[in-house]
Amino acid sequence: MAMKLTPYEQEMLDGKHGEAKQFAMRAMIKIGEPLGAEEFVEVVSVQAMAHFGSLHIAGRDYMRKLACMGGKCCVPCTQDPASIPWDTWEEMGYDREYAANQMDLCKSVMQLGEYHAWSCTPYVQGNVPRVGQNVAWAESSAVSYANSVLGARTNRTPAGLAVCAALTGRIPKFGLYFDENRKAQVKVVVDAGELSDLDYNTIGIIIGKRVGNYIPAIYGIPASTTNENLKYLGACAASSGSVALWHAVGVTPEALHGDPFEGREPVMEFTITREMLTETEKSLCTKNPGEVDLYVTGCPHSSVAEIVKLHELMKGRRVRKDKDMWIFTTAEACNMMRRSGVVGELEAAGVRMMVQTCLVISPLVGNGKYKTLITDSGKNASYLPSEHGIELIYASMEKCVEAVTEPV
Ligand code: F3S
Repeated sequence: MAMKLTPYEQEMLDGKHGEAKQFAMRAMIKIGEPLGAEEFVEVVSVQAMAHFGSLHIAGRDYMRKLACMGGKCCVPCTQDPASIPWDTWEEMGYDREYAANQMDLCKSVMQLGEYHAWSCTPYVQGNVPRVGQNVAWAESSAVSYANSVLGARTNRTPAGLAVCAALTGRIPKFGLYFDENRKAQVKVVVDAGELSDLDYNTIGIIIGKRVGNYIPAIYGIPASTTNENLKYLGACAASSGSVALWHAVGVTPEALHGDPFEGREPVMEFTITREMLTETEKSLCTKNPGEVDLYVTGCPHSSVAEIVKLHELMKGRRVRKDKDMWIFTTAEACNMMRRSGVVGELEAAGVRMMVQTCLVISPLVGNGKYKTLITDSGKNASYLPSEHGIELIYASMEKCVEAVTEPV
């Protein structure tokens, strides 16, 4: 069935508001109609993608084409991390042609009017939709956070479609834009005693593996939990499965009151015990880790609170000469912590700030220097061994710091 358009949407489709909007409307109708969308919803913001590591030449040319057509974002639009660290790619040994392609992509998205955010945590960078607002976000961890923690509404928007939403302020209405598709389907009880930061990652990994793309209602998450813990839980459930929305009962906005199942029977039910957490932690380490070469943290990007925690753990310690430590974060968190003197002290202790970039979607530079990585991110543990052919140890931040540092 043909999608029903408002007069303004029809004008965009007819080309009355420029070639780029027309192109975007055509593309969204082509994808929306087979999905059963009958109309568009207005979106208040977009999280787009522009990392060369996953968009490649085709994505670079697509963005360039939209920019050449004169496309301009009409709602606030941020984007995922870039595939290179802007300030240090050369000294770190990134390939010139690869870097040039990423910069080309950057030029196009800036021409389109996207904000220079380059992070998977746009919700700490001013892109903060309210409960019930429709957005069109890409990148699974950001989507999970928007839906679950903020209570905004988005599907896992494909990269090509997210930019179309930014140019038009619209997205086809299907999936999680409907109330009835946001109810819990699986009951998960967490019964594992006191939870550490790492446990939240591991809980997410277990849930993603078990529930696929069902919507879980999680019982047993304390109300005092941090935003960082919820960020990791969601990122891990989205990477080990394809969970785009989950409810932490008594914690997240759509499960604060009442029954998250609205009277329906769960399609599945299970309990996460301490034994399961320990078992899963072990399974996330690869088979033959050697001596650790590199500690990576910040997937999703580290917040100010996480940098402060790392800084505390680094007091009186420095990175050993034969090892490295990289913190992936936003430019804003890095700048704030630099002004506080924290980043200066971390750098003096041998830590490298990796700003506005991501290790999963970029080459692991270092000319074969890194063979065994250690990380406290379940999402890193899910992806890095296969992406970069390395051995990996999954452990708490405390253990990670210990593995690559020595007392001063
Ligand atoms: Fe962010 Fe890259 Fe991890 S986009 S969530 S740092 S895989």
